[in-house]
Amino acid sequence: MRTPLVVGNWKMNGSISANKALLAGLTEQWQGQSAELAVCPPAAYLNQAQQLLAGSTIALGAQDASAQASGAYTGEHSAAMLQEFGCRFAIIGHSERREYHAETDQAVAEKCKALLAAGLVPIVCVGETLAQRESNETLDVIKRQVSAVTDFVGSEALAGVVIAYEPVWAIGTGLTATPEQAQEVHAFIRQQLGSLGDETRILYGGSVKADNAEKLFGMADIDGALVGGASLKVDDFIAIGNAA
Ligand code: G3P
Repeated sequence: MRTPLVVGNWKMNGSISANKALLAGLTEQWQGQSAELAVCPPAAYLNQAQQLLAGSTIALGAQDASAQASGAYTGEHSAAMLQEFGCRFAIIGHSERREYHAETDQAVAEKCKALLAAGLVPIVCVGETLAQRESNETLDVIKRQVSAVTDFVGSEALAGVVIAYEPVWAIGTGLTATPEQAQEVHAFIRQQLGSLGDETRILYGGSVKADNAEKLFGMADIDGALVGGASLKVDDFIAIGNAA
């Protein structure tokens, strides 16, 4: 059985005082019965979040990780550093990083390997653009992005990896993939993962809100969500967690 997982990607949002209020609300309200909940603040706030989450069942994650262990890589954070700050997860290959930081499939695969080696759980984001969906390339794009990672890390590592399907056209736009559209891609990803894929959690991301989460989570291959905007509001994020 796959435990549902709901992860908040704060992106470049937050401040010391806003984080304090958000995390106080989340730790107070999250009872955490059936699903796992995690938050991914900007790296600058990991230390603060680690302290505020002490004793809570809410896990911590980072929004990126370096493929390198240490050295002259200005601005980067290694998996071991993230682990020292209590991170259990790290998002990699988010479409914003692929687009604005030219992150390639190979770079994502290398980051995935580095995280697994350090004992962290990579959340590997994949997803097609609107143009790719409209020209019927969705499954080809997903196949390429997923196999870049699985070929590099090996299928035996899959149980330790989370995959997030985030159609680029649904991110921050208010447009959500229908549960059926998302399920089609999730089932395709699981099939691509082979027998070990039964244990791999596949999250959906893209305008997940309190009022559409339940239907998405009702689909057979949707094991939770990677949430952007709605993860910045206590009540909305808790409601999504409770729906999982
Ligand atoms: O990683 C989460 C994400 O990109 C979705 O963002 O704001 O559409 O929920 P949002």
